[in-house]
Amino acid sequence: MTQYMPTIASLAAAAAILLAGCSPSNPESPRRSRAPFGKVDGKEVFLYTLRNKSGMEARITNYGGIVVSLLVPDRSGRPGDVVLGYDSLSSYLKATPYFGAIVGRYGNRIGKARFTLEGKEYTLNANDGPNTLHGGLKGFDKVVWEADENTPATQPSLSLSYLSRDGEEGYPGSLKAAVVYTLTDSNELRIDYAATTDKPTVLNLTHHSYFNLAGAGSGEILSHELMLNADRFTPIDSGLITTGELKPVEGTPMDFRTPAAVGARIGVTDDQLRFGRGYDHNWVLNKTGGELSLAARVSEKTSGRVMEVWTTEPGVQFYSGNFLNGTNIGKGGKTYAYRTGLCLETQHFPDSPNKPAFPSTVLRPGEKFASTTAYRFSTR
Ligand code: BGC
Repeated sequence: MTQYMPTIASLAAAAAILLAGCSPSNPESPRRSRAPFGKVDGKEVFLYTLRNKSGMEARITNYGGIVVSLLVPDRSGRPGDVVLGYDSLSSYLKATPYFGAIVGRYGNRIGKARFTLEGKEYTLNANDGPNTLHGGLKGFDKVVWEADENTPATQPSLSLSYLSRDGEEGYPGSLKAAVVYTLTDSNELRIDYAATTDKPTVLNLTHHSYFNLAGAGSGEILSHELMLNADRFTPIDSGLITTGELKPVEGTPMDFRTPAAVGARIGVTDDQLRFGRGYDHNWVLNKTGGELSLAARVSEKTSGRVMEVWTTEPGVQFYSGNFLNGTNIGKGGKTYAYRTGLCLETQHFPDSPNKPAFPSTVLRPGEKFASTTAYRFSTR
């Protein structure tokens, strides 16, 4: 039998957890707690609950880094779950359109599932016709991440890491990826991404929550008002691959510089909307560099909820849930029909590895990739 002898390090870690209010052994008023969620690939999967001091609660699993639920107060203080998802791990394993997941190694599409880096061509697993989407057949959304439960934190947070081996899904280089979710007391869910590699590779990490500010399962998102802080977008071809142009939004249904209902122009005759089957495009954010800046603001009248998206990334994919079809049973037995959730995926531009004029997604040994996105909630 091994006897448990507390070391100075373990005592320090325990003290840090208690100071952060994150003790899993105190279920009464914890700011972070943990419950078993099942097993994948022989590894334990947990569901972590983060609570802040302002009425928000996030439940996140280390399978795919998925945000399973996100409770946000409405204008009268009533909490509502604003993200689509499932009640059980088995439902996520069966079929999911990336509900709430961390997406990688390369979020969004890479045309013809290949790219050339430093003179060498790499072939990826195609999973979207001839293209690769969201990391391939088994992307970062379908792996078990390691949860570091000992990181001292002053706010409720969850640190996850994943080692993606050299050649996984066709990508070169062993990539160490880390994601920290923090639920701040000012009602924001912040995501800090970091990565290093041992060979040159490409990287585009994002988060894929489907939001419905009136509550998951409550109907279409077409009356949500959206502002996108972008003068330009990256047009796509009929296979949803970026053409390489940066096109002004002026005079097109892609112009969300002044807030407009998602549904206001979604039905107009327009090639871009036809190719995307609605909105499924990357907007080029107005910013000077890699500063944390406002990308988008969404508001919903009945609940009064407002969500702002802030990011250090150069782009955001606004996807209006055009492939949702109500076939899978979601949380509380609700189904998610066509356009009942919207995604705002902060990112580098789609197919950048094949578009030399786009901001680079190459990560080299010795470099540290770092990126931050915050979903900030308020009411009006
Ligand atoms: C993409 C869509 C895709 C969806 C997967 C989005 O990020 O832009 O084209 O269908 O993810 O559910």
